[in-house]
Amino acid sequence: MKLLRLIANLGYGSRKDVQRMFRDGRITDPRGVPLDADATVPHAKIRLDGEPLDPPPGFTLMLHKPVGVTCSTHDVGRLVYDLLPPRFRLRRPVLSSVGRLDRDTSGLLLMTDDGALLHRIIAPKSHLPKVYEATLAQDLRGDEAALFAAGTLRLEGEATPLAPAHLEVLDARRVRLTLTEGRYHQVRRMFAATGNRVTTLHRSRIGGLALGDLPEGRWRALDADDLARLWGLERGDDGTGGPPMPAC
Ligand code: URA
Repeated sequence: MKLLRLIANLGYGSRKDVQRMFRDGRITDPRGVPLDADATVPHAKIRLDGEPLDPPPGFTLMLHKPVGVTCSTHDVGRLVYDLLPPRFRLRRPVLSSVGRLDRDTSGLLLMTDDGALLHRIIAPKSHLPKVYEATLAQDLRGDEAALFAAGTLRLEGEATPLAPAHLEVLDARRVRLTLTEGRYHQVRRMFAATGNRVTTLHRSRIGGLALGDLPEGRWRALDADDLARLWGLERGDDGTGGPPMPAC
């Protein structure tokens, strides 16, 4: 792809803006020699103001989403895009959230411009485990782990029962829940079905990929090892030290 289009598609500016960058000699090779807008140059060999470019398409990042931020391109209030460099919002192909976290849920959110990867992750048949920590308004009843593991719980308004889910009780009002599907407001609705209410909800892990010590509101690009880790979670090793995943 010609440099002009490549750089505009990364969101650095309109074609006109990028043409100006070329005219001003801001786009160079690693030795500082200006490049031509019509040239085709390997991504790693391009510099803008002496800095390497953002990653090319096929870009996936993880974000530590804070509470109060919405997974949307156009909503009122703070959006996940406000936590990223502004040009990320202008990238083509578009950088999208992989599934959603509610506005009131914090934790691990993936974003990617790779449509095939996005669909692979969110496809019901991926069975990719997602691990949530929740605090509850009331003490647990005691039968929630068995109820969620049974694979028979039907959420209000839904025809098909939920897949078995693994509940680890941390204390009377704190739990770790591992789901292998992603229905609308699923965790909150599961506890609502037991007469309880989720007061805080945080996602700490998707597949073998953990949020780790990424600070709230910060993001980092994923590399090939991260993506391998995403799919690499073995049953019985959800990385939380908990008991094995339920067979689904
Ligand atoms: N379940 C919920 O209820 N909310 C989320 O954001 C994710 C899972």
